[in-house]
Amino acid sequence: MLGDVVDLLRCPHCGSSFVLESNGVTCPQGHHFDRARQGHLNLLRGPAGANADTAAMVAARAEFLLAGHYRPIAALVADAAVGLVAVEVGAGTGYYLHHVLDRLGPGSRGIATDVSAYACRRSAKGPRTGAIVADTWAGLPIADGVADTVLAVFAPRNPGEFARICAPGGRVLVVTPMADHLAEVRRARGLMDIEHDKHDRLLASMTTHFSHRESRPLRYDLDLSPHEVDLLIGMGPNAFHADASNASDPAPIRTTVAVRLDVFEPQRWR
Ligand SMILES: C[S@@+](CC[C@H](N)C(=O)[O-])C[C@H]1O[C@@H](n2cnc3c(N)ncnc32)[C@H](O)[C@@H]1O
Ligand SMILES: [Zn+2]
Repeated sequence: MLGDVVDLLRCPHCGSSFVLESNGVTCPQGHHFDRARQGHLNLLRGPAGANADTAAMVAARAEFLLAGHYRPIAALVADAAVGLVAVEVGAGTGYYLHHVLDRLGPGSRGIATDVSAYACRRSAKGPRTGAIVADTWAGLPIADGVADTVLAVFAPRNPGEFARICAPGGRVLVVTPMADHLAEVRRARGLMDIEHDKHDRLLASMTTHFSHRESRPLRYDLDLSPHEVDLLIGMGPNAFHADASNASDPAPIRTTVAVRLDVFEPQRWR
């Protein structure tokens, strides 16, 4: 609930802290934000960009994740989490954040941010979770140094902002696909390839603000029904390319999940 995390939030206009009210939050400068009926708070300074997941994409993601296909990824992330405050950016349904909070225990709390209000409607349902509509690239409406664990799972990153919100002794957990992630699905359905230099670019961008502590690769096979393949395609960036999602091949597919968790720590001299 919003009340669990309101002390960790900052006004996107003036940077002040908020007072919680029955219908939303207000800062001392009088900037007011209504809480949505579904429980989330929209702290965007402008309209949501074209990169926000649609209602259909979020619904596909929720159904696919509920089936447990990515539970090993959630366990990998939860194993690496520390502290009591977790922030997941580009959180989607909040699936990974909710696993992390479960692992960190009843004293923990979390903020799920996403530029998609449809995603925040889902993440707001998690226990001890405040869901905030925010654009990671525009700056996070979160106080300095409060996040023990920052998560970015298949989501856009902003290393400068991660460094600002990360607590001393905290860490940033980034999950990215490896080159052969879902290769069989990509081949069968003619989808976009994963760039081969993705990991190098991640390390180069994050090590401007963080030390790279470790990489934990995870690889396993998934057997997917044709419907599950459709969900997988519908929830991902390929959903933006109608041609790819229409190229329907009704066969079940055995495919490889190949992802990597990278753990980053704030640089000691900062
Ligand atoms: C591939 S999904 C991953 C969602 C979630 N982390 C998961 O793995 O289930 C990427 C998410 O990032 C969100 N997103 C895209 N651009 C964003 C931005 N600039 N700021 C915040 N969220 C963004 C999308 O709306 C979407 O929910
Ligand atoms: Zn304000």
